Amino acid sequence: MIKQAIIPVAGFGTRLLPISRALPKELLPIGPKPTLQWIAEEIASVGIDSICLVTSAAKANIDQLFRTDALLEQTLRTQNKTELLNSLWTHGPFAKTKILTATQDQQLGLGHAILCGQDLMQREPFVVALGDCLMGPVGQSQMTKRLTDVFLSHKADAVIAFERVPPEAVSRYGIADPFEQGSVFQLRDLIEKPKPENAPSNLAIAARYVLSYDIFAELQSIEPGQGGEIQLTDALRKMILAGAKVFGVQMNSGETRIDVGNYTGFAQAFIEYALANDKNLRAMAQVILNEQKQ
Ligand code: UTP
Repeated sequence: MIKQAIIPVAGFGTRLLPISRALPKELLPIGPKPTLQWIAEEIASVGIDSICLVTSAAKANIDQLFRTDALLEQTLRTQNKTELLNSLWTHGPFAKTKILTATQDQQLGLGHAILCGQDLMQREPFVVALGDCLMGPVGQSQMTKRLTDVFLSHKADAVIAFERVPPEAVSRYGIADPFEQGSVFQLRDLIEKPKPENAPSNLAIAARYVLSYDIFAELQSIEPGQGGEIQLTDALRKMILAGAKVFGVQMNSGETRIDVGNYTGFAQAFIEYALANDKNLRAMAQVILNEQKQ
């Protein structure tokens, strides 16, 4: 069983300025919960018992979400506000999950953020979940579970989530070069942001990974890539080309990945998650839509 995870949350979030000046994108409300709580619940539900948040000086209090506030909780108890009390992470089913924090001093990319968590990790495989991407529908995706199952059953070195994107969008993503078709496939290579005419597939990396501890050595050995950043995709590519067994798992139909780190994604996620959790809001939204049609 895979027991540990890293959630990198130290990025600048420039695509969401000026909102991200006021609030880290990983804490944006998505329906009734902050983004990071949805993600932590998703990964804790597959048996992860230790989560390392890689944060920055500017986001130093991001782990407050997971900490007990004795006075607040006592007040809610006294007022019999059980539902509100139970909405807190510290009263939810995963309250015993260990939450650790590491700091990334300079925003040198996803690969660098993962390296910053190394000292807090056991020498065992771990999940990586991007702190600004939600896996749906409504946080209920089984993707992380499938990734960990494939990692163990295939004795893999790494397993990556993929989603199909329109062919014209491949130049925005890391794209799979798979050996075979299917919902689980071994990777021949990974191509970073290919032109559509050169893309080996339209399967784009989708925010969740299971990685063996060996990835840290690869991350330490690679040169900074695009924009001076240490890219996780470069380290994975190096592993694959050296003969490591790296697999992809495709998202099922009906599953969605929403990047809340851009305004459209945030708005879409908020609406989807808010409506899913509230019948009255659905009725109100219908009224608004009907009015707009007139
Ligand atoms: P993104 O590349 O989407 O985040 O990283 P970003 O750099 O904050 O976004 P923009 O491009 O400026 O808008 C995905 C996840 O990895 C974290 C981010 O916080 C986000 O949760 N990340 C990214 C880090 O922790 N450190 C980094 O150096 C980069």
